Amino acid sequence: MSVIDLGEYGADFTADPYPYYAKLREAGPVHEVLTPDGIPAWLVVGHEEGRAALADQRLSKSTSVIDLVLVREEIMGPHLLSIDAPDHTRLRKLVAGEFTGRRVEALRPRIQQLTDELLDAIEPAGRADLVDSFAFPLPITVICELLGVPAADRDSFRAWSNELVAPSGAMTEQEAAEGFATYLDALIEDKRAAGPGDDLLSALLTTRAEDGDRLSLAELRALAYLLLIAGHETTVNLIANTVRALLAHPEQLAALRADFGLIDGAVEEGLRYDGPVENATFRFTREPVVLGGTEIPARAVVLVGLAAAAHDPGRFPDPGRFDIRRDPRGHLAFGHGIHYCLGAPLARLEGRTAIQTLLRRFPRLELDPDAGPLEWLPGMLIRGTRHLPVVW
Ligand code: HEM
Repeated sequence: MSVIDLGEYGADFTADPYPYYAKLREAGPVHEVLTPDGIPAWLVVGHEEGRAALADQRLSKSTSVIDLVLVREEIMGPHLLSIDAPDHTRLRKLVAGEFTGRRVEALRPRIQQLTDELLDAIEPAGRADLVDSFAFPLPITVICELLGVPAADRDSFRAWSNELVAPSGAMTEQEAAEGFATYLDALIEDKRAAGPGDDLLSALLTTRAEDGDRLSLAELRALAYLLLIAGHETTVNLIANTVRALLAHPEQLAALRADFGLIDGAVEEGLRYDGPVENATFRFTREPVVLGGTEIPARAVVLVGLAAAAHDPGRFPDPGRFDIRRDPRGHLAFGHGIHYCLGAPLARLEGRTAIQTLLRRFPRLELDPDAGPLEWLPGMLIRGTRHLPVVW
């Protein structure tokens, strides 16, 4: 089979990759591709095969398996998404012991309050960019407060993290990663010097497993980086992508407005229909691995298509239909297996609160008819638009 150059699909692929994934899937569940960034990879586009690949321990998360050097990873050091079991098991246990359901549930009133405040601020204008004024500031404020990052510092790392997730060219990857790492080291040092606060970073500084095991400062820095990036580059697009889908499907929006008991289903369908993470993070083969009947050679990059899996008609009948009453079980928007998203309960709580409150407050919400075409985020990792102009 020949190598498929995804870069040749151009801007249409970024704006709407689903027809391209469908075409590939018709030809088979696994394809050798060149990503638009020029990285040779094996792309999994079938749901069953994707699910299996996410849980397949023969696929490593460590770049040391191949010769790929990711500048940011070198600078930040190893974290949950760049290590395998048993190192991953140890780290995940330490983190999960502090980042608990109870800690997330305790954030509920604060998430509602922030949502209300953000909507209060934009209401009088009658129009806004929903990304800049709502979908972005909500999760970043929540994750910063959860971790104990001072409000004054948040603009700087919006710049760093944006640059790392969807580069605009404003600075190099190295500059962004170094700026971020230096900042996090100082923040952790401040917390250590000041003594334990009640934020998650302070809790992680002092946490100890039963056997006395604890996180090193380097582990804590890399973890804080991962949580900050994962905690706000994703949920912003859960909110914006789901609102966009609802506005594009007035009958679904009307059903939700008539019965907000459907909000959980609407958020799950948002995650499936146009989720924030288009493809899982890289995995690497140590040895040749057969996936979906295709042999992937040793030392290759494997890209599991979460968006592609979500539109596999073998798993989700009529996958292009946005249906908030669909049985949502089984989507892979939060991944699967040992790297399943640690922040899923928080993301769901934020998404449900934000979307429900927005719709209740603005009964006549619609896309701004005067806005130009939407600008899609580049790359194959995050799916969303830079802006979402709306009126009410
Ligand atoms: C809608 C929002 C979100 C989506 C769609 C999402 C999606 C994902 C996905 C697909 C993975 C697995 C990646 C892979 O296996 O390659 C993942 C892992 C992870 N996510 Fe999320 N995420 C979201 C929000 C969050 C939030 C709010 C946090 C933290 C506060 C978070 C923290 C993490 C962490 C730490 C991991 C790595 C877990 C591990 O390797 O053990 N995520 N997420």
